[in-house]
Amino acid sequence: MTAQTVSLQVTRPDDVADEHFLKALPKAELHLHLEGSLEPELMFQLAERNGIDLPYASVEEVKKAYDFTNLQSFLDIYYQCADVLRTEQDFYDLTWAYLQHCHDEGVVHVEPFFDPQTHTDRGIDIGTVINGITRALDDGQQAFGISSGLILCFLRHLSEDEAFATLNQAEPYIKHFIGVGLDSSEVGNPPEKFAEVFAEARRMGLKRVAHAGEEGPVAYIEGALDYLDVQRIDHGVRCTDSEAMMKRLQAEQMPLTVCPLSNTRLKVYEHMSQHPILQLLERGLCVTVNADDPAFFGGYLLANYTALAEHLGMTRQQAARLAGNSLVASFADDSTKEAWLQQLQKACE
Ligand code: ADE
Ligand code: ZN
Repeated sequence: MTAQTVSLQVTRPDDVADEHFLKALPKAELHLHLEGSLEPELMFQLAERNGIDLPYASVEEVKKAYDFTNLQSFLDIYYQCADVLRTEQDFYDLTWAYLQHCHDEGVVHVEPFFDPQTHTDRGIDIGTVINGITRALDDGQQAFGISSGLILCFLRHLSEDEAFATLNQAEPYIKHFIGVGLDSSEVGNPPEKFAEVFAEARRMGLKRVAHAGEEGPVAYIEGALDYLDVQRIDHGVRCTDSEAMMKRLQAEQMPLTVCPLSNTRLKVYEHMSQHPILQLLERGLCVTVNADDPAFFGGYLLANYTALAEHLGMTRQQAARLAGNSLVASFADDSTKEAWLQQLQKACE
């Protein structure tokens, strides 16, 4: 199934989408770092529970520090905040808090990322991380009917040998995750660096995604496609630098998991009005909307959709197509996707 085969009948298609309409659309979230959903309030609670002194005096002070100039300025704080995550219950609470937002916003399926190396490098067992997350995802399915597929990300500022070591540590838990991803500092860490470990993940039957073309050049998108054999590109917005790449992504119907609020908070674009997501949608690329690191970038999935309506005049028709793309681009099976698309059609009428 590809996004191009989906046709939706939308009532008042040219109206700008309002929040009520956007909330009612069944949506999948395919680009969400669980560690990036750590709200300052929960960070303080976990710090207290674990006897950790934070370098911030209050939630307000934390929020003031979230004033980023680029990806690295964010990552430095993001890794520091993750230090409060120590026990299986901490990872459960983090994931559960995220799923409650999903439930409130009409999200039916999530494929969240986690960064095991951020935790194992601090001496935390990978089983502690995976078990806490998985228990919450299972409860999310039970309580809210939200299905999920967890994705293990390698940190690209570390070596491929370290990625291999992580994959080996994770292997006993393989039934708990569906794929591997690649994140962290992009520029200077091209996809080719991880070609072997991605090939091994493929042999293990895992799906593959990678951050590419967030801050890095079009060549990194090409590298992710050609060296890592990915099934989705995370971000990918820098494809706009290359007509040939936009044509390729359109022809291959390669999904891009775009994160509008992230891109403006990390200064990929100065203002949301400059964001190219709707132009890419109109060219027929399979773009999707996602929150990336909602606790740091000012909003969860619905806030990303509403920002597009507010600043780019996103119509109901465009919003429905973006939601449809998210369902089609997920790793769910085709019969599940068909059921979601019927639900989506009803929400559009
Ligand atoms: N880790 C968490 N968020 C990220 C992003 N937007 N880019 C790269 N690595 C990340
Ligand atoms: Zn990301």
